[in-house]
Amino acid sequence: MNSVTAVAPVITAGNDALKRDFPLKPFAIRHRLASHPLLSLPRIAELAAKLPRDLIEYNSGKVAISQDPDAIPSVDLDPVEVVKRIETAGAWMVLKRVENSPEYRQLLEDTLLSVARARGFNSLLDAGFEQVEGFIFVSSPNSTTPFHLDSEDNFFVHIHGEKFFTIFDNNDRAIVSDDEIERSMTKHRNLKYDESFAPRGTEFHLFAGDGCYVPYQWPHWVRTAGSFSISMAITWKTREVRRLNDLHFFNSMLRGVGLPQQPPGRQPVRDALKLVFYRAVTTAIKPLRASLAMRRVLRRIALGKRANYYLKGV
Ligand SMILES: [Fe+2]
Repeated sequence: MNSVTAVAPVITAGNDALKRDFPLKPFAIRHRLASHPLLSLPRIAELAAKLPRDLIEYNSGKVAISQDPDAIPSVDLDPVEVVKRIETAGAWMVLKRVENSPEYRQLLEDTLLSVARARGFNSLLDAGFEQVEGFIFVSSPNSTTPFHLDSEDNFFVHIHGEKFFTIFDNNDRAIVSDDEIERSMTKHRNLKYDESFAPRGTEFHLFAGDGCYVPYQWPHWVRTAGSFSISMAITWKTREVRRLNDLHFFNSMLRGVGLPQQPPGRQPVRDALKLVFYRAVTTAIKPLRASLAMRRVLRRIALGKRANYYLKGV
């Protein structure tokens, strides 16, 4: 046995789910990250002090499952104070793109590499774990993350507290329409939730050391119980996910100038042409994205003024 296979996997799943259900269906996982120093409140507060402001989003945790994005109550504290006072702040916060910090990147990559090896691959790339990104969630007791979807695959690892994570299959588009998916990706992620959806949900009841696998664009909502909570989303984008995302974004831009589009998959030849054009343009403007001010301007041009909703007051 070599030193690689001797290391216990960071993430495990029962019933062979990592081979049987991954990447198409959600399943419960266990992980060994709950006591990792980088995921403690003091280290997360340090990270909040260093992150660019447009990579931190926070608001009151007292929101509805079906929350109107224009009526989200704010929290009048700076990001570092929110983390330090999370037990009483009544807040919900996400620190985005934590892989920009080398220590966090290492943690994300080591975790996914252990999954890759458990699935019989020798590298992240071989296993399809490309564009690895991390998101750390810190929330006060009794907080809600409204109904939404995310455009990546995700191992959601729960670090502290008690949390309920409810997820829905959306393959038949009965819960969220194609138009709503595009709007959620490009305008505001919150989706309309109806109580009639409830019987179709799968609820994961999470304590420290638990987690779940969240497949691409499966809608979900989350609530914390009576203690403050820390979780991390370990995400990646396969080649196919990046293709779908680029098409959704370009469709949204075309719709914005009065040219509504079919969702990805209905017109494969047009999809291919759109992808070539969109990628050429986004590659050309990439250097402009280095500054926060330019990122704001570009988001405003591409996605409309509401795309900068989380920078209100900054
Ligand atoms: Fe999410």
